[in-house]
Amino acid sequence: MTDQSPTVASATDTPTVIKQRPPRIFSGIQPTGQLHIGNYLGALKQWAQLQSKYDNFYCIVDMHAITIPQDPQELRESTRRNAALYLASGLDPKYCTIFVQSHVAAHAELGWILTCLTPLGWLNRMHQFKDKSAKMQAESISAGLYTYPTLMAADILLYQTDLVPVGDDQKQHVELTRDLAQRFNSMFGETFTLPDAMIPVSGARIMGLDTPNAKMSKSAIGEGHAITLLDSPEVIRKKMMRATTDSHREIKFSTDPERAGVNNLLTIYQAFTDEPGEAIEAHFEGKGYGDLKKTVAEAVIEGLAPLQSRYYELVKEGGAIDELLAKSAERAAEVAAQTLDLVRDRVGFIRLASKVKPS
Ligand code: AMP
Ligand code: TRP
Repeated sequence: MTDQSPTVASATDTPTVIKQRPPRIFSGIQPTGQLHIGNYLGALKQWAQLQSKYDNFYCIVDMHAITIPQDPQELRESTRRNAALYLASGLDPKYCTIFVQSHVAAHAELGWILTCLTPLGWLNRMHQFKDKSAKMQAESISAGLYTYPTLMAADILLYQTDLVPVGDDQKQHVELTRDLAQRFNSMFGETFTLPDAMIPVSGARIMGLDTPNAKMSKSAIGEGHAITLLDSPEVIRKKMMRATTDSHREIKFSTDPERAGVNNLLTIYQAFTDEPGEAIEAHFEGKGYGDLKKTVAEAVIEGLAPLQSRYYELVKEGGAIDELLAKSAERAAEVAAQTLDLVRDRVGFIRLASKVKPS
């Protein structure tokens, strides 16, 4: 039932820059909390499958993370852990520039310029700001949380990105990015490529084990909510055995909200085993929920094993991750500088004397 191929959300306009390179992909994940199997199945695994066809930029967006207060030590750990998990998930530095957002100052610079071109009304419409700020005390809502989408637009536009693989919750931000690119291009002349969101179809949406009607999320607090990518086999078995199911007996894919728990377990099983839906239903025919949970737990353990062993090898190598991040930041900065220099000229900033080319 789940075709997991990604779809392009909207029609592409004529690209503004003539490109002699593979189409470019940009995406990012905030280094907050632990990455979980929803992040893996909905994002990392698909990124790895797509990588050889594209020129990929995968960013650890630490500047976005601080739009909500972060513990500095945890932020550092989470940034390095995510970088190692991107690699362990199969992203290959041959195809992917994996870098940390704060290492490339151009993001903040373009972010500011775009902020100055963004009508307040556009930001007032953003669902994510409304949702996040509704859960916070008024005095702890920062201006950064409000202007978050203009920094995200800078991330994407700096690299003349064609496609942005994200979850459907980020679609509105990518649309705002397109609108900003169009606005800039019409005010100052063709400068930015208009990006499209690439949204995985609904099968890639993994729900919380304890909340099968709500998405598995890094910020949910329930201990049995998410299976993280570094959970041990014992922890995975324990969490899976506690997963919410229902009082029915049939083990079948279903869109009935009451049966969301069983459907979620089957979706997880399918995503890890790549077996067709009918074969999976046939396999579980006549079995009980206990069997289902045990089998899904073993599929997850087996599916994560190679990722976990690559992760621990990388961590053992110590400085290798930091070195890779430094090299990648250099490449990202080079590409970003080309766009930023053009933007600076377009908006009327004068060039630094040392950068003026002799004519
Ligand atoms: P987030 O954890 O919200 O920062 O999301 C990072 C990436 O993981 C995004 O591309 C999301 O689409 C994807 N993602 C997050 N949660 C899920 C989920 N429960 N199921 C599928 N994909 C997810
Ligand atoms: N806002 C995205 C999220 O919360 C993270 C992000 C920041 C991003 N910059 C990006 C995603 C650029 C794609 C492209 O998931």
